[in-house]
Amino acid sequence: MGETVSLVGPSGSGKTSLLLLIAGLEQPTIGRIALSGRDITTMSEDELALLRRDQVGIVFQSFHLIPTMSALENVAVPLELAGAADAFERAEAALGAVGLARRLSHYPSQLSGGEQQRVALARALAPRPKILLADEPTGNLDLDTGARIIDLMFERAHAIGATLLLITHDPSLAGRCRRQLHMADGHIVRDSARVAA
Ligand SMILES: Nc1ncnc2c1ncn2[C@@H]1O[C@H](COP(=O)(O)OP(=O)(O)OP(=O)(O)O)[C@@H](O)[C@H]1O
Ligand SMILES: [Mg+2]
Repeated sequence: MGETVSLVGPSGSGKTSLLLLIAGLEQPTIGRIALSGRDITTMSEDELALLRRDQVGIVFQSFHLIPTMSALENVAVPLELAGAADAFERAEAALGAVGLARRLSHYPSQLSGGEQQRVALARALAPRPKILLADEPTGNLDLDTGARIIDLMFERAHAIGATLLLITHDPSLAGRCRRQLHMADGHIVRDSARVAA
């Protein structure tokens, strides 16, 4: 609980592929993947969808918000589809926690890149997943905005006790994670842990 792991390695080494496998969005041709102790490679599409919904939050480099929905709806509608009776209250709280209390009714096109990524982060974390997967989440943001998003990501993941798996090309960012996985040519070639400061 609350582990922070970075996944680093050259372009094409397989980082995104690994993330998609962990998320159950791609199926491996060989091998097995366990999530919360359950083998996800033998699950049906329906079982996988439930597991993704309840346990996994994902943030991508591009924000993937629904353009015709407000910030509040982008966060609330997935919660509502998951059966939450208080979806809009929870979405409002999640957006407040990422500093967007005053942007609830804005549409994605009316938000800055940093704000859009905050909405995506709120959406990913509102269901209180066990793991937050982030694939170069600041790749489309300027340095300052990106740094603030990263701080927020660490803080919010910690607040809900979620493990953070962060793909990044930025060594200093990777160094903020307790554990670092290095990939090359589709393999994890190094697994190192930061010594506690
Ligand atoms: N859907 C796919 N079908 C076949 N090959 C793929 C597919 N997606 C990715 N690949 C290949 O798998 C390898 C790993 O790609 P992946 O996207 O995981 O790399 P990455 O480490 O995330 O790179 P980057 O840092 O550029 O994002 C690459 O050689 C890529 O061309
Ligand atoms: Mg990638």
